[in-house]
Amino acid sequence: MQADAYDSHQPVLLSEVARALKIKTDGIYIDCTFGRGGHSREMLKGLGPAGRILAIDQDFQAVDYAKSLFAEDQRMVIEQCNFSQIVQAAEKYKFDGRVDGILFDLGVSSPQLDDSTRGFSFMRDGPLDMRMNMQEGMSAAQWLERVSAHELEKVIKVYGEERYAKRIATAILQQQKISPLKTTRQLADVVLKTIGRSREHKHPATRTFQAIRVFINRELEVLATALDECVELLAQSGRLLVITFHSLEDQLVKKLFRKHNEPNIPRKLPVVDQFQPKLKRVCKPIKPSESEIAGNPRARSAKLHVMERVVC
Ligand SMILES: C[S@@+](CC[C@H](N)C(=O)[O-])C[C@H]1O[C@@H](n2cnc3c(N)ncnc32)[C@H](O)[C@@H]1O
Repeated sequence: MQADAYDSHQPVLLSEVARALKIKTDGIYIDCTFGRGGHSREMLKGLGPAGRILAIDQDFQAVDYAKSLFAEDQRMVIEQCNFSQIVQAAEKYKFDGRVDGILFDLGVSSPQLDDSTRGFSFMRDGPLDMRMNMQEGMSAAQWLERVSAHELEKVIKVYGEERYAKRIATAILQQQKISPLKTTRQLADVVLKTIGRSREHKHPATRTFQAIRVFINRELEVLATALDECVELLAQSGRLLVITFHSLEDQLVKKLFRKHNEPNIPRKLPVVDQFQPKLKRVCKPIKPSESEIAGNPRARSAKLHVMERVVC
């Protein structure tokens, strides 16, 4: 099956990911965010017949695409699940403790953004949904019908890092009383009317959309748990790669690294330090080149974090 324009997603930091994973021909890899498989395809190039990739995505469309693309390839196993279930998925194939590389490429894929029926984009009018798995949880519109002013403000402030959170939350809830918001355009218009255009090149609704998406998909909670579980799935010298797009995701990676790299013992205590670090950083976070950013604006805020499992 060929990727058509509608299905395409330009993978970020592709050659950097392949290099950092140091693909072994008979290695075992997990792509936790298959999307349209740009990174998986690159990994497959280095795998021989004994190599394996476990591809995970919670989005049914991404999984259907993966199955149609790799139905004949014995090296690929595909699971529709949230990466919060990574341990169960790895155990199913007896990969636990044997994984040579795990990749998270966070955020939304281009096909998700480009499909107006998914409700992720303020650029295309569509139902206000924003769920990555449309068979679970509440849509953004349903959530806005029940959220309190206090919670909405907090979500927009914390997950969107939006300084006008209070004004936006108040305006949204005033509008909800007149007529509940049902579409992406309606939500974007409320934000635009409330805070106007800024000097930033971003649309004023960018942060609010990000906040609501991150909250209703529980993106940060799920990521924190999954990252922690990955540490035990890795083989000795196995690598954990995370492509982040905003500072809240960066903070979770830093927290994971601190937990598995630094002893949690007060410095002045005269104890024998039994702490064995489980992770080391392979290099500083890698950023896309100017030319990649010019060809793919989505890469602008990407950072690739590369860590390695050091003790088993
Ligand atoms: C940025 S895209 C990945 C693109 C992919 N690397 C490629 O080259 O095509 C992120 C994908 O991860 C999926 N995703 C996000 N959070 C997830 C989660 N918690 N569990 C499983 N899949 C998730 C999304 O549905 C989306 O398809």
